[in-house]
Amino acid sequence: MDNGLIFPPGFLWGAATAAYQIEGAWNADGKGESIWDRFTHTPGKIRDGSTGDVACDHYHRWEEDVGHIAALGLRSYRLSIAWTRIFPDGTGRPNQRGLDFYRRLLTALNARGVAPAVTLYHWDLPQALQERGGWLRRDTAYRFAEYAATAFRHLGREAALWITHNEPFIQAFYGHGTGENAPGERNPWAILTVGHHLLLSHGLAVDAFRAEFGARPLVPGQGPQVGIVLMIWPHHAASERPEDQAANRIADGGMNRLFLEPLFRGRYPDDIMRHFKWRGMRPAVAPGDMAIIGRPIDFLGVNTYTRLINQANPRDLLSGARQVTPPGPTTAMGWEIYPDCIIEALNKARAYTNLPLYITENGAAYDDVVGPGGEIDDVARIDYLRAHIAAAHRAIAQGIDLRGYFVWSLLDNFEWAHGLSKRFGLIHVDYATLRRTWKRSAYWYRAVIARNGLEAA
Ligand code: FCB
Repeated sequence: MDNGLIFPPGFLWGAATAAYQIEGAWNADGKGESIWDRFTHTPGKIRDGSTGDVACDHYHRWEEDVGHIAALGLRSYRLSIAWTRIFPDGTGRPNQRGLDFYRRLLTALNARGVAPAVTLYHWDLPQALQERGGWLRRDTAYRFAEYAATAFRHLGREAALWITHNEPFIQAFYGHGTGENAPGERNPWAILTVGHHLLLSHGLAVDAFRAEFGARPLVPGQGPQVGIVLMIWPHHAASERPEDQAANRIADGGMNRLFLEPLFRGRYPDDIMRHFKWRGMRPAVAPGDMAIIGRPIDFLGVNTYTRLINQANPRDLLSGARQVTPPGPTTAMGWEIYPDCIIEALNKARAYTNLPLYITENGAAYDDVVGPGGEIDDVARIDYLRAHIAAAHRAIAQGIDLRGYFVWSLLDNFEWAHGLSKRFGLIHVDYATLRRTWKRSAYWYRAVIARNGLEAA
């Protein structure tokens, strides 16, 4: 009998969110301004003119949301802490009301048998630190380490997995290169320094974690673990032409190897350094930095949604590449539906490390339609998730140590520069009433978790 695709016992089925994208309450209870508050309050930055001031109002509705998380049967829930709720100005004395909010939330999750996976930095730097130079300034890495130490001290045991950073690539390249994300800088020469300070702050936070919990990595389930989440999207060359192959290597290097190599090999990739040096960019590496960045961690999180196909484009001075329109069908983000991104991304990670891996984000935006009876029949999202979860199963069968899978996202939410226009949620949010409604994909995912895998086709 065909039992379908069953996952190993204890596989961590989850869903993910981030503070700025769901919480709202942007200035409640002493919260300070973050670079995303400043950015969304600047006209013209967000495509639909929306902000995260209210978003899903999770800050006030967290109890209802924990109810949804428990009803889905999630084994883990990935959330992020807003640095500005703990340190409104980025440093100084912690704000008790901010710590209390996250303590209540984490305690409630644990009480429902849901293991929290907590990201410290999902791009929302305190604006006060931005004004002192932000991630271009080395000191910011030390302020991050203080914030991390405070979070570990007050909340550390409440989370199963601690994630220092989410996708440093996006913060560096989109926040400081293209300016599409906060802080909206267009300083390509700043990218490598920003990336370096993000990585340095990661290593310093790992040191703070070990100082709090002991020097040796803990066994899963016996205490919190620490890791980082990288965006790893496979890159393919548009053709066999040497120019396209070379452009593809640089594009892949800038997104993937630029972070994997320092974390796991103690150096920056030579070809990427050469490529950017020619453009006047170089990271400000001080003696000892690479050892800090390479501190042993307990797991690696991988965010992957699609692949990118690159063609040489000498007119793009930064990357030298242009992305070709993908051949296959796409989601509402214009991202190709390419389930093997899961296997290719995990293999890319495995080329660097044997650590346990998690897919910390995967999912799809669609223009969901609410039916006359209020139902949301998002079959396309179910097809996307099914195909990608099947790929995760293939990855495990190939010997990859994949420990969990998190859908992006639990709720429809504020999708950065796209504002509220892109819906990734298992649960629909009506932004006028803030009402939550389970989409068909939520019922489907609940059944996947209950059977620990996919039904036979
Ligand atoms: C990832 C982000 C996440 C979300 C998804 C769609 O890059 O980490 O916050 O926006 O993309």
